[in-house]
Amino acid sequence: MSDGAPTGAARVAGVTGWPVEHSLSPRLHGFWLRRHGVDGVYAPFPVAAAAFETAIRGLAAAGLSGVNVTVPHKRRAFEIADELDAAARAIGAVNTLVFRDGRILGRNTDAPGFMANLRQHGVDPAVGPVTVMGAGGAARAALHALVQAGAPDIRLVNRTPESARKLAEEFGNTAITVQPYPVSQAVLSDTALLVNTTSLGMTGQAALDIDLTPLPAQAVVHDIVYVPLETPLLAAARGRGLKTVDGLGMLLHQAAPAFEAFYGVRPEVDAALRRHLLEVL
Ligand code: ATR
Repeated sequence: MSDGAPTGAARVAGVTGWPVEHSLSPRLHGFWLRRHGVDGVYAPFPVAAAAFETAIRGLAAAGLSGVNVTVPHKRRAFEIADELDAAARAIGAVNTLVFRDGRILGRNTDAPGFMANLRQHGVDPAVGPVTVMGAGGAARAALHALVQAGAPDIRLVNRTPESARKLAEEFGNTAITVQPYPVSQAVLSDTALLVNTTSLGMTGQAALDIDLTPLPAQAVVHDIVYVPLETPLLAAARGRGLKTVDGLGMLLHQAAPAFEAFYGVRPEVDAALRRHLLEVL
């Protein structure tokens, strides 16, 4: 009879980063392993930048199913992968490496995670103009997801407009336009979905200071920051009676396809998982 402990046939995966001790991934994957009764292990692997490639090849050779990749390795993971999925290619970064048949497959699950979270909240990004704040790595994932979902009008607003222009050019999609910073009343006045991809609003950082008054009453405000769960932006949106989507869901949804690739089971992103993560956040 099984005592719940991993057997000699357990599938092994984990997360590589430097540092990695604050990663929530072991808690998240550990919850799913227990819930689904999977014979598996998910461990943290602290790997310094200089050792990344050696460590990855070693972990692959040791028979792991794969690893999640976090700061500072997402770009290097992109470079060493034998194959890349469409999201990883568009974003230029890999957050999941899958070891299969002697090959290293690079994936980016941030974009599908972003979209799955919005859809779970009943938000269709194709219904109207989307305004994206920021032009960093998280903005890339959001843009890729929005373009894939067929969003017809995506406005990019960034403190450094040059970075936004470069990003829009790279995507080469006519749905994306760069708008002045700070975001104008005119841009907000017909925005259906406002997304913050900057780090503003995170604990210890200044708030993203936007006057939300011009937003239409049906607008949705989404912040990908999840510490704190209710950022000043979301608090202001809620205060105006707008629908809000916090950043925890994206974290959970980006992990689900990685878990499936590592352990062969599609896990559920539901209220019980959310409650569990909130307890450990
Ligand atoms: P990530 O990969 O998490 O997206 P990043 O690449 O460092 O992080 O991007 C951070 C984003 O937050 C950028 O769009 C940045 O704007 P700049 O391109 O002008 O740097 C934005 N950001 C960070 N601090 C900001 C601040 N104080 N005011 C406005 N935007 C800020």
